[in-house]
Amino acid sequence: MKIGIGNDHSALELKAEIIEFLKEKGHEVADYGTNSSESCDYPKYGEMVARAVVAKEVELGILICGTGLGISLAANKVKGIRAAVCSEPFTAKMSRAHNNCNILAFGARVVGAELAKMIVDTWLNTEFEGGRHQRRVDMIMEIEEEKK
Ligand code: RB5
Repeated sequence: MKIGIGNDHSALELKAEIIEFLKEKGHEVADYGTNSSESCDYPKYGEMVARAVVAKEVELGILICGTGLGISLAANKVKGIRAAVCSEPFTAKMSRAHNNCNILAFGARVVGAELAKMIVDTWLNTEFEGGRHQRRVDMIMEIEEEKK
């Protein structure tokens, strides 16, 4: 699977470990940066990965900032994106199975590398269950159409 990854300055080391892990698992990785330790603005990277997912340049996205919050909030502003911050594998599993999230986010200041790898592995190996969950995901996406 081709996976897009983006991060801010707080997540350089963790991003490198996650890229290595993804490659070991046979995935192709598109790295949208940052690759500098200089302080930067996470919305730029959240938006870039989100747009790559919507454009189908990559199948799924992974975003890492200090908490996972700011970068996922930015990604969620892009139409078609469902980004979830997951700090443990159960939420990661449910974010795919029930919410069909297309971006996983987590915090480099929250989770260690080994936990982050478990989160990523669980997320990538869980399929959307569809059924009643499809209706609810559709309801979420209708909100961004501003039909109400
Ligand atoms: C950067 O200091 C920090 O604010 C950022 O990485 C992230 O945690 C924001 O949500």
